[in-house]
Amino acid sequence: MFERRPKKINYQTVLRDVARSMVRLKRPERLLKLITRYIDRELGLSHTSLVVLEETRDRFIFVDSKGSRRVPIGLIKFEMNHPLVLWFRAEKGKELKCEDFLQRSLLAKGLANGRLKMLVPERRQLYEKVKKAMDDLKIELAIPGYFKRTLIGLLLLGEKKDRKPFTKSEISFFQTLTQDCSMAVKTAEYHRSLIDKNVELERQLKEIHNLRKKEQETYYEIMRSLAQEVHAKDPLTYGHINDVEYLGLKTAEELGLDLTGRKRDILSAGLILHDVGKIGIPDQVLKKPTGLSGEEREIMKTHVDKGVKILEPLTNFKEVIEIVRTHHENFDGSGYPLGLKGDAIPIEARIVSVVDAFHAIVTSRCYRSNRSVELAFDELKKCSGTQFDPQVVDALIRMVHKEKVRRGSGFFNLFTPS
Ligand SMILES: [Fe+2]
Repeated sequence: MFERRPKKINYQTVLRDVARSMVRLKRPERLLKLITRYIDRELGLSHTSLVVLEETRDRFIFVDSKGSRRVPIGLIKFEMNHPLVLWFRAEKGKELKCEDFLQRSLLAKGLANGRLKMLVPERRQLYEKVKKAMDDLKIELAIPGYFKRTLIGLLLLGEKKDRKPFTKSEISFFQTLTQDCSMAVKTAEYHRSLIDKNVELERQLKEIHNLRKKEQETYYEIMRSLAQEVHAKDPLTYGHINDVEYLGLKTAEELGLDLTGRKRDILSAGLILHDVGKIGIPDQVLKKPTGLSGEEREIMKTHVDKGVKILEPLTNFKEVIEIVRTHHENFDGSGYPLGLKGDAIPIEARIVSVVDAFHAIVTSRCYRSNRSVELAFDELKKCSGTQFDPQVVDALIRMVHKEKVRRGSGFFNLFTPS
């Protein structure tokens, strides 16, 4: 299908390879340079050059130039008013019937034989300027590459060694090649813009995430302070809420619970925050040491729902909220607010229930004595299997004995009012 040429090129193979590379390469500059070198090596023209539209879209720059008359690519740029750019952006050379390419020999002939004298002066001037630009850079053939009617690049070729004109099939080959290159440039540009957008999106998401995290941490700190305030207000308890946290974690360890990663933090937050809803209970009810009326008991029970509502804004606290919701459920199903039974109550809530009762007894002013720990054990055992999970009660008692051996009487001083 191709005419004879000094060095036979397998055009279809070249085009296929170009198309494959176009998909593979993220940086089309490499492909464009490879093409320039390929044409230079196979055809040995006086020069082979490629210019492409810069992404800023205000000029065309040389990607590469090869051959004995190569263009000094660092020195020459095509501004948007360069004759070749103007020509291919708007003119397309219809009068010379060379359609989507410019051949200097044909242009010279047209100007020499007077065929263009009929044109308006501006048009003729453009032809002359194009011819001069091609003369200056020794361009014999200029082929444009478009993408959606936008001029993306130009393949600029010097003379053949034998000085023969380019054949139609060679021009057709170069046109396809230039179109492929334009497509590669546009595809890479599109990829880059997608990557840039992704990077920006990721940055914004990270910023939102950090802000959200900060906000949640601040909220948690406020909740912790509230819980301590509530704990301090309660006339039945003494000591710091951190003691409850310590006892709960040690009991969980004694039970052999998995406390790795988030699990430890969840139990810890549950132990600290379970009564935070008491902040919404009136002082005359909260501070009443004993003898709550039926109505007052119902008011007191609402601290569970109030606590859940207070913690709801902490989106990462779903499991903690469940502990708060169920910390007054009883092992035999007689608790509130849901009447859950046995394993249906989260183990963390069962631990909170036992530890909170133990801590309340040993720190209570009503039980203030050296026997307070033993009394607390008796109370827990009495309610084991009904209010409390027996396994948790046993684990707490074992743990306290172990701690007593390990730390001596210092452990009990933890709960002794000053
Ligand atoms: Fe409670």
